[in-house]
Order: sequence, then structure tokens, then C-alpha cells
Amino acid sequence: MSIERVFVAGAGLMGHGIAQVHAAIGRAVTLYEPELARAEAGRDRIAGNLERAVAKGKLTADDRAATLARVTPAADLGAAADADLVIEAVFEDVDVKTRLWSELDGIAPADAIFASNTSSIAIDRLAAAVSEGRRARFAGMHFFSPVPVMPLIELIRGSATDDPTEKAIRDLAAHLGKQVIVSADRPGFIVNRVLMPFLGEAMRAYEEGLGTAEDIDTGARVGLNHPMGPLELADFIGLDVCLGIMRVLHEGFGQDHFAPPAILERLVADGHLGQKTGRGFHAYPR
Ligand code: CAA
Repeated sequence: MSIERVFVAGAGLMGHGIAQVHAAIGRAVTLYEPELARAEAGRDRIAGNLERAVAKGKLTADDRAATLARVTPAADLGAAADADLVIEAVFEDVDVKTRLWSELDGIAPADAIFASNTSSIAIDRLAAAVSEGRRARFAGMHFFSPVPVMPLIELIRGSATDDPTEKAIRDLAAHLGKQVIVSADRPGFIVNRVLMPFLGEAMRAYEEGLGTAEDIDTGARVGLNHPMGPLELADFIGLDVCLGIMRVLHEGFGQDHFAPPAILERLVADGHLGQKTGRGFHAYPR
């Protein structure tokens, strides 16, 4: 099936990037948030990203305008009524996601594909929120941040996901210029299953005074050639997001190395969520 109209639910860090990359390849995108001002703020972020690309000479002003014109902010789920693909990128909470999917199930066309950008929650658990007939077209489509830069999509098949749905997502990913890996439907899938124990261990090392945050990060950047150290990466992802993923992994597997470190719990409880709040393991003066 051809995917021309994309409805993206959630205009935050992931949602605005997901909307941007689809608009950039010519798809008509609706960017949804329950409050219109937040959907518009998502489009403004896209405008800012595109403006930087124009300033660097990587995009023409005409292409910037055309891409932006393909993004329509909306506060009404009714706009999903003509979507070929619905991508959900809202807060990583099972109840929030299942409520939204169940509403969308009553609005979107019967043959629309439903894809969750969940970073850890089982696809079968989310697919249970939609009617049985829809579950064949329900999958995980997990993007990485910053979405316009990171060339990977983790595709997760639920137990009901059919082959045409996988093919449609693979075809779309090829248009987006993104490589696909396929993960079984287990907590954290492939990337976060591998990443989160690494971030968690860096946090525990920092907590016990093994080294400064700067030295731990430099160890990974310089010694392992990672673009960011684990503590700055956690700040970049969002400490609340990391905590949510670690909890899902720990609940799912029960092993100690998945348990969220105490320092992470404390920082999140104190409202220090990383880059987005100006403080996490590092400070981000505004
Ligand atoms: N949005 C759009 N583009 C961005 C961007 C953003 N937020 N941040 C950086 N970029 C672009 C820049 O415009 C630049 O583009 P050009 O090469 O075309 O000029 C390019 O990225 C490189 O940026 P910079 O030169 O400014 O900075 P950098 O070299 O330090 O790279 C980075 C920045 C790409 C973020 C790099 O540090 C990096 O790759 N970090 C690791 C990111 C990562 O691991 N992401 C995955 C997180 S896990 C996840 O998302 C999933 C999950 O479930 C938790």
C-alpha cells in the first residue's frame, strides 16, 4: 500500500522529528497534540531545524517552505480520518498510549497502518487496545533522536503483524533513507536492551565516585569513539525517558543490571530531567 498521508500523535522531541522527515519526503503530515499551541510549537521546532539547514546551504529556501507547508498542526484526532499511517510518539506510559490507540481505532480508516514509536513497551500490549481486525496492521516503528540525523528504524512485529505491513514500513523507511532492523516483541527491543544497562552502569559508577561525570563521558567518547558519553546521552534522551525504559526492562527481565540506579530516581524526582530542564548529570545553562 502507498503511504501518502501520515498522522503523527505527539509533537515532542521524537514526534516533531518524525513529522519533519516524512514531510521532507513529500508526505502530507498532521502533527497532533491535544493542545493546539503544543502542536504549533512542534511545527516551529521543525521550522528551526529546516532554517539551520538552509543557513548551512544544505536545503534551499523553497524546499524549506514546501516541507513546512506539508505539516499541519492539529488538536483534533478527527484529522486521522484520512491517514494511511498513524505514528504514535506520545509519553512512554502504557495507559496514555492505549487510551489514544483505542480512540484512533474508531477514527482512522480500517486499512491504515498503526505504528508506535514506543521505546520499550510490548507491541502486543498496545495492539490489544485496538479492534482485532486492526492488529495485523499494528507494529512498532522506533526512531532514534535526533530523528532527522539518526538513520535507523527498529521495526517490531507484534504476534498479529502481517507481512504487507512490514513491507509497507520497510518501503517507507527506504524512502526516508533509514536502515531497518527487526526486533522481536520483548522489553526494550534491541537497541534499548543493549543501551540502558550501559547508561545505568555509567550512572552507578558516577554515584559511587569512580570518576567525574566529565571523565566517565570522555572515557566513552575518546576511548570507545562514541559521539556522546553515557551521562550526556542520558541527559539528551531525557532522564525521565531513561527511567521509564529501565523500569520496563527491570519489570520484564528481573535482572539487577536493568534496575534504575538510585541517582537516576533522585534526579527525576527532583525534576532534573537532563537537557530539556537545564540540568541532569550535567548543567545546560540557558
Ligand atoms: N535536530 C536535527 N538535526 C540535528 C540535531 C537536532 N536536534 N542536532 C544535531 N543535528 C544535526 C546538525 O544540524 C548537523 O547536521 P549537518 O551534519 O547536516 O550539518 C549534525 O546533526 C551534527 O550536529 P553537530 O555538528 O551540531 O553536533 P555533533 O557532531 O556533536 O552531533 C549528534 C550531534 C548527532 C546529536 C551526535 O552527538 C550524536 O550522534 N549523538 C548520539 C545520539 C544518539 O545516540 N541517539 C540515540 C539516542 S537513543 C534514542 O533516541 C531511542 C530511545 O528509545 C531512547
